[in-house]
Amino acid sequence: MAEVVFDRVSKRYDDVVAIDALTLTIASGEMVTLLGPSGCGKSTVLRMLAGLTMPDSGRMLINGRDVGGLTPGERDIAMVFQSYALYPHMTVAQNIAYPLRKRGVGRAERLRRVRALAETLQIAPLLDRRPAQLSGGQQQRVALGRAMVRDPSVFLFDEPLSNLDAKLRAHMRGELIDLHRRLGRTMLYVTHDQLEAMTMATRIAVMADGALQQYGTPADIYERPANRFVAGFVGTPAMALIDGALLFQENRAILGIGGLTVDLGIRRFRDRPVGTWQVTVGIRPEDVTVGDGPFAARIGAVEPIGHETILTLETGGARLCARIAGSSLAAVGETVRFALRQHRLHFFDADSGRRIDEIGLAAVDGKAM
Ligand SMILES: Nc1ncnc2c1ncn2[C@@H]1O[C@H](COP(=O)(O)OP(=O)(O)O)[C@@H](O)[C@H]1O
Ligand SMILES: [Mg+2]
Repeated sequence: MAEVVFDRVSKRYDDVVAIDALTLTIASGEMVTLLGPSGCGKSTVLRMLAGLTMPDSGRMLINGRDVGGLTPGERDIAMVFQSYALYPHMTVAQNIAYPLRKRGVGRAERLRRVRALAETLQIAPLLDRRPAQLSGGQQQRVALGRAMVRDPSVFLFDEPLSNLDAKLRAHMRGELIDLHRRLGRTMLYVTHDQLEAMTMATRIAVMADGALQQYGTPADIYERPANRFVAGFVGTPAMALIDGALLFQENRAILGIGGLTVDLGIRRFRDRPVGTWQVTVGIRPEDVTVGDGPFAARIGAVEPIGHETILTLETGGARLCARIAGSSLAAVGETVRFALRQHRLHFFDADSGRRIDEIGLAAVDGKAM
């Protein structure tokens, strides 16, 4: 078992800060997904841990041991890439056995381990083929086999499913989750696909511009996004983020957004000072109910996706999505009434973008007056 620690790890490429003081602990046996948009530094994190890229500063520890001075081969890590990087001239069996051959493991032992893995990955009938004779999904399994054959203590995956079609991707996702459960190995899995990140992870590390934005369970990330970036990045359709103002009076808080006024009552904000706070309000589509309610909106778009329909509502300059079960008779241009689940609204400081918590609002920066 292996715990992985990044301790203030930084990496620049000329004037690009690829990773900015990353501090992250991955507990032994966890499956952590690194989630963020393209170019935010995810691959750089994996490559540094694998020893393929040198950090400028900071330490990386595996089971308490600083791996900075170790070669990639000495780190007991296996990496699976998006481009499976199989050797085209070798058979499947030779590809899988390659890491063992490189380490001088004898032929009989190599054969034994390759056969066992081929059973696990259900590729036994393919062992004599070459990569060009395999489908994308089969190539992916071979790449997995090659990573697993040495039984490393840490697995790194860099968007390994991106080249597969949607159906196969969903299937392989399930297999990887199962594999993680059976092997119990520490895994660090990079993806820009939030569905992948949410379904596979024990914990998600959300990144943007080389900086860690939030580290938490999928539920944490979804229910309590730490800032505006995470709020907008995780969730489909995205959380609506609308500029507004919280007005605190003696015994209640009133939210003004895009021409709407919402009386929030006083339960949610304790210790709030009297005054106004500029905020960004976050509203998830499932927290908007359509058909009845205190607000009116024009329907801007209707997107049926089978089991549900996504409505885009336009009101007072603001746009938000609503999620309706089943199909909807609503038509573009119609006016509908709607309500918000007030206790599920999210608030972010308009300047910093940081989440404003329900409790101790006054304690945040002292910005409210
Ligand atoms: N070898 C390199 N030389 C110069 N810039 C690089 C190199 N590798 C990555 N970068 C830059 O570092 C940033 C992070 O890249 P990367 O880790 O590949 O992001 P991601 O995997 O999240 O898409 C990007 O701005 C990228 O252009
Ligand atoms: Mg990448």
